Amino acid sequence: MSTSTPISTSAPPRKKVTTLTYRQKKERGEIITMLTAYDYPTAIAMDKAGIDSILVGDSLGMVVLGYENTLPVTMEEMLHHCRAVARGAKTALLIGDMPFMSYQVSVEEATRNAGRFLQQGGMDAVKLEGGRERADVIRSITSAGIPVMGHLGLTPQSVNQLGGFRAQGKTAIAAKRLVEDALILEEAGCFSVVLESVPARLAELISKKISIPTIGIGAGAGCDGQVLVTHDLLGLFDRFTPKFVKKYANFHNEMQKAFADYIEDVETKRFPAPEHTVEMKDEEWEILLKELG
Ligand code: KIV
Repeated sequence: MSTSTPISTSAPPRKKVTTLTYRQKKERGEIITMLTAYDYPTAIAMDKAGIDSILVGDSLGMVVLGYENTLPVTMEEMLHHCRAVARGAKTALLIGDMPFMSYQVSVEEATRNAGRFLQQGGMDAVKLEGGRERADVIRSITSAGIPVMGHLGLTPQSVNQLGGFRAQGKTAIAAKRLVEDALILEEAGCFSVVLESVPARLAELISKKISIPTIGIGAGAGCDGQVLVTHDLLGLFDRFTPKFVKKYANFHNEMQKAFADYIEDVETKRFPAPEHTVEMKDEEWEILLKELG
């Protein structure tokens, strides 16, 4: 007997997930689910699977575009992938990740760029990294009617300042600063906050102290929701896998095997076979041969 989850083909349509759904889920103690997506078919599959929210993360730069880190990702690259995801997912709450230097220079530029995610990218909300130093930007973006998700702990756009992709908030002083930052983000108007790579008991404490939902990645089970980078979960990205990832598949190996099988089939002329081939009626063929002399 198969133990895998059956895939429903005729599930009733779900209601659009909004930031209000997020709040209600936290109030009811229901877990919020989020995954990253960067393309149309993945967005469709996630929406059908029943995901609450999809983040078009700037992890795009690493797992899809092959950059060393997220710093080179541009607004245009983000918007291109946001549009693809928005065409595929109709129910999940869609969150666009603001790339490095799209919100750090000035409040005005940040607000304009956040607006582009909704106007040109089809997103419902934006995410940006940082604590107290982003409070003014968050206030300005939310006052324009754009929901903002915060991101604390390991903030990959600050990788050079953090000295690498390393866990945060492990000392009492650093942990206190993160608690304060979470309270500031809530006060500034964030509807939710991602906690990345922080001790589980700290993430749980923050989740209890703030009324907006926390979404954890490498932050333990005490958060109000969970997110993973989809390419890690599917085993599509083989450069490295963070310790906190649970791999649900190994698509990199599957893909490599499928490509190798294709190459072998083509080289040995097993593909294309008659069933993959377009045929022409004999009478038409005879006419053609006559025409050509
Ligand atoms: O860019 C991203 O995918 C993210 C998640 C890791 C939260 O920020």
